[in-house]
Amino acid sequence: MAVPKRRGEIKRMRAAGRIVAEVLDRMGGEAQVGVTTGRLDKIVEELIRTRGGVPVFKGYSPSPAHGPYPCSICTSVNEEVVHGIPGPRKLEEGDLLSIDVGVSLNGYCADAAITLGVGDVSDDAARLSRVCRESLDLAIDAARAGARVSDVSRVVQTYVEGEGYSVVREYTGHGIGRELHENPRVPNYVSVIGAGRDTVLRPGITLAIEPMVNQGTYATEVLANRWTVVTADRKLSAHWEHTVAVTKGRADILTV
Ligand code: MF3
Ligand code: CO
Repeated sequence: MAVPKRRGEIKRMRAAGRIVAEVLDRMGGEAQVGVTTGRLDKIVEELIRTRGGVPVFKGYSPSPAHGPYPCSICTSVNEEVVHGIPGPRKLEEGDLLSIDVGVSLNGYCADAAITLGVGDVSDDAARLSRVCRESLDLAIDAARAGARVSDVSRVVQTYVEGEGYSVVREYTGHGIGRELHENPRVPNYVSVIGAGRDTVLRPGITLAIEPMVNQGTYATEVLANRWTVVTADRKLSAHWEHTVAVTKGRADILTV
């Protein structure tokens, strides 16, 4: 059951979201050729803590099979879809880099992701990222009071597949609030199986909407580090995410 947040709770989520937005804005300048993903993680952790926030990904464990996540951001390069772990890898010209970050402030979370081109990227890579970002815009348009979660899923899937790409199925968006992951799940594709628990959106429901869009197959694999998700065909993937609060009109984006 997704419980709508009170106004004061949304205010706190917005305060956390402002730090998320500042972090991602900063990454645009920092993600240059030769910079390590570990360096980006350091910069982000310091910035979050300076603002009084807590990096919620660090220490997070989605299931007992995972150890705690070791970093403040996820850096997923090229065929990496999500949950790439920052480290000594140096960014190269043409890399397609997604950066995902979550912040908790005064007990409330916000979560967002962007995809950046490192130096000059191929037209294909740029188009993939643009289509993914546009699908997020359409999803936010669709996330109005009275709509269902499946309406959000459908606009993403229809748009992305119409552009010749695929949407990842094994990972989804999610409710968010006191916890990083709350109900409901927000898939980026429509499934018959999910229809039974299709949440009707109400004002105050807060969601992290996060399309992951692949150039080739939607199928994914997880690397031996148990975190990094890659495309099964090793083609490129892009990821954009915002945390939003549902209203009667267009959803309120909290990570800006
Ligand atoms: N934004 C992603 C999510 O919502 C990343 C969190 S995974 C973590 O699942 F382990 F890094 F926290
Ligand atoms: Co998320």
